[in-house]
Amino acid sequence: MAEALEASRAARRTSAPNPWVGCVIVAPDGAVVGRGATEPPGGRHAEAVALAEAGERARGATAYVTLEPCSHEGRTPPCAEALRAAGVERVVAALLDPDPLVAGAGLAGLGRAGVETSLGVGREPAEALLEPYLVHRRSGRPYVVLKLAATLDGRIAAPDGSSRWVTGEEARRDVHELRADSDAVLVGAGTVLADDPELTVRLPTAAGRQPLRVVLGRAGPQARVQPALELSGDLRGVLDLLGRRGVLQLLVEGGSKVAADFHRLGLVDRYVVYLAPALLGGDDGVPLFAGPGAPTMEAAFRGRLLGVRRLGDDLRIDLVPRDATTPAGPPGSALGVRPGGPQ
Ligand SMILES: NC(=O)c1ccc[n+]([C@@H]2O[C@H](COP(=O)([O-])OP(=O)(O)OC[C@H]3O[C@@H](n4cnc5c(N)ncnc54)[C@H](OP(=O)(O)O)[C@@H]3O)[C@@H](O)[C@H]2O)c1
Repeated sequence: MAEALEASRAARRTSAPNPWVGCVIVAPDGAVVGRGATEPPGGRHAEAVALAEAGERARGATAYVTLEPCSHEGRTPPCAEALRAAGVERVVAALLDPDPLVAGAGLAGLGRAGVETSLGVGREPAEALLEPYLVHRRSGRPYVVLKLAATLDGRIAAPDGSSRWVTGEEARRDVHELRADSDAVLVGAGTVLADDPELTVRLPTAAGRQPLRVVLGRAGPQARVQPALELSGDLRGVLDLLGRRGVLQLLVEGGSKVAADFHRLGLVDRYVVYLAPALLGGDDGVPLFAGPGAPTMEAAFRGRLLGVRRLGDDLRIDLVPRDATTPAGPPGSALGVRPGGPQ
């Protein structure tokens, strides 16, 4: 299963809106005879890739899959049936697929066909790796990552509105990794006005896929963020719309009004905070969150710390709401982020 999880990472940035799944087929003598990851939309699922490599050697084998095999005819034939037809005798899945079209039917069908099934091996790492997909299929909305870059005294921009650059090159490169893992990147019109960001992924390793760029309010024809989808209104409606467009992970990059709205409505699944060892030293800079916050310490939002990582001189701190089910892990791991510099 560890190898299947490793295989699935290769598809992390190319399979959406399908899940990035890995499959490893092991022959009765213990030899790995097939290995696969989900191909880009319209391509083969992980099981089909692994079965094609295994050929006749799939007979009597065990298939390890990071997500329950699909049971429905989509753009590709059902994987559960393909595994059975190839003579696989045992299927070990890390997770059930919450997609209403599958939801247990893949494993149940295999069981009825006489294939031995088992569920839960590698559940925690699989959940961590597939979390955006799982959230999207369970709620219809994207998994929301709120990124904040602040000075140690909690300011995201100086009193003159300048925020270039709060953090150093390594942290900024890491933000590009976050963008590359996301299907859409969102900022408020205030940030477009203040910073005029491009919101593109600029990494030597990027596969060329660019996230959908979303601006809350009006970007204006002169903005560098072109093209951008301009949305307005209730944020839950915005998330529903993005979910319907197949956005599995949304990266919210600010500014302070937008961050406050997502935070106060409880719409953030993961906070990624970059802290620079810098102090503006006053209360007149732009705060992380605009407007009044919790009135008492008791009412403060308390997150669960997933991890802290040093990036050059800066710190990256990952946290989730305390009631979140995200398995703990080093920062970035759940998002497939590698240590990585500019915005
Ligand atoms: N360090 C960092 O990580 C970071 C990141 C981003 C930004 N920043 C800084 O943050 C500052 C900008 O923050 P900000 O609070 O002024 O602006 P903002 O949060 O970027 O944008 C707020 C504006 O977006 C529009 N908007 C927000 N929600 C909307 C909705 N649901 N429907 C329609 N329009 C909506 C409104 O525009 P209208 O008022 O035009 O209607 C609103 O005034 C800048 O100084 C920037 O440098 C820092």
